[in-house]
Amino acid sequence: MASNVQRQKIIILDFGSQTTQLIARRLRELDTFCEILPYNKFPAADPDVIGVILAGSPYSVYDPEAFKVDLNQFVGRLPVLGICYGAQYMSHVLGGKVEPAPSREYGRANLTSIDLDNPLFRGFEKGSQVWMSHGDTITALPEGFQCIASTDSVKYAAYWSGEEAVNGKSSNGKGIWGVQFHPEVFHSLQGTLLLKNFVVDICGSRQDWSPANFVETTVAELREQIGSDRVILGLSGGVDSSVCAVLLNRAIGDQLTCIFVNHGMLRKDEYQNVMKDYECLGLNVVGVDASQKFFADLDGVTDPEAKRKIIGRDFIEVFNAEVKTLSNSPLKGENPGKNSLPLREGLEGSYRWLAQGTIYPDRIESLNITGKVIKSHHNVGGLPEEMHLQLCEPLKWLFKDEVRRVGRQLGIPEHLIGRHPFPGPGLAVRILGAVTPEKVRILQEADDIFIQALRDWGLYDQIWQAGVILLSDVRSVGVMGDERTYDNPVALRAVTSTDAMTADWAHLPYDFLAKVSNDIINKVKGINRVCYDISSKPPSTIEWE
Ligand code: XMP
Repeated sequence: MASNVQRQKIIILDFGSQTTQLIARRLRELDTFCEILPYNKFPAADPDVIGVILAGSPYSVYDPEAFKVDLNQFVGRLPVLGICYGAQYMSHVLGGKVEPAPSREYGRANLTSIDLDNPLFRGFEKGSQVWMSHGDTITALPEGFQCIASTDSVKYAAYWSGEEAVNGKSSNGKGIWGVQFHPEVFHSLQGTLLLKNFVVDICGSRQDWSPANFVETTVAELREQIGSDRVILGLSGGVDSSVCAVLLNRAIGDQLTCIFVNHGMLRKDEYQNVMKDYECLGLNVVGVDASQKFFADLDGVTDPEAKRKIIGRDFIEVFNAEVKTLSNSPLKGENPGKNSLPLREGLEGSYRWLAQGTIYPDRIESLNITGKVIKSHHNVGGLPEEMHLQLCEPLKWLFKDEVRRVGRQLGIPEHLIGRHPFPGPGLAVRILGAVTPEKVRILQEADDIFIQALRDWGLYDQIWQAGVILLSDVRSVGVMGDERTYDNPVALRAVTSTDAMTADWAHLPYDFLAKVSNDIINKVKGINRVCYDISSKPPSTIEWE
């Protein structure tokens, strides 16, 4: 899609439900762009909005703290779909009745009666399974509203108002729909069809949100935004920063300089391998090996948060110093980094922008309207404030799977795209106790055996993330040949997840675990015991520190 073509979007108003993000994901799977916004931030003046979804909420409409929205901002002007609380709220405000259900309506239910002529239910099967989760229920609809689906116990499972609903303003195409079930969850078997009916047939989505369109539009936007300025970007070796770099490289070429800091706690040979990958991708990348500084500053530190703070601070120091050196270096001819490409003639001035691979879920968490911050992880947090640079975050609208699709579109090799997430502080948070170069070396060896085995057994792509944890303050007795050993144990960690917010331990085959355990104990001196971590998140976390 060229930048002068309207980018259609659906607005999802967030009332604090856990499933709001899931609605957005489903819409993106329908190649439709959508934005989640706090319930009170509807962008009334945005001409690109083609429809509105009011999502669920942990509150009842009668709760004094319940979030309220002025429906007149969009009702009658745009098609509106209320889901669960969204449906109850509209019914309540527009003159219907919502009351506590005699018992909480939760779990699977079947739509025993459906108005198959209503555009929302086009293609539905009678008895279609849906997922309910609400404490209140609608007991009377506002005037002019029609019931379009029921279950055995929920009379108004879905409603519709096509005409004259609010102040005589609404018309067929701009009507109001409400469903008390959750079409976005997996257990609503035709939920995606319902959402498709809404966004495509009712709202008129062109379904043109695709990786190719994203790349084309974003490249044009970046060129306009950045002009001839120079941009600096910190690479981590991970998917997000790599895709961000390649996208920027396509837009502004050698105006982009990337810095890859080796803090000494990366995986075995990762620094060298990733540098090679980046060079093959044509990136102008400067590698900085600062391991000694990081090890010196971490000496004797055992507290996990203290480790994170030191690494974060050192990273900023190293990054800043490198940017200063690069800024003072000649802008034409040879670039100062030993691995970088020559700069284009005519570039002037030093860096004006800091690019980051921030993705959508990072920002949704920070938008969380109920005020409960779940976690905040950032590799380079604090950099922009310190450096007085403007932020450029071209991936800020993408979910992780979309970042991967864009990466493939950009021709990034599969081994970089499919790479598991890895924490910014690296193996430092996988060594319980003080960090030393020797412990890192031991852990790198064990980790390499585990990861390589996952690849060899075809298991790598089935899991979200894996690694080894060195319990460096624990020692246990073992026997090797005729020798007694008194060494450290390691724990293997492998989890399945879709977004790292929740995770389950991966049910890896026993034969596989036996082989990895055997290989680690035989090949890595200093380790004489291997355990497998069978904790899910919550209540545990993925990392041990
Ligand atoms: P937890 O351990 O909180 O981790 O379940 C969730 C995800 O975040 C990664 N992680 C980090 N990433 N800096 C990062 O950049 C950190 O300090 C950090 N701590 C955890 C973790 O690997 C998992 O993918």
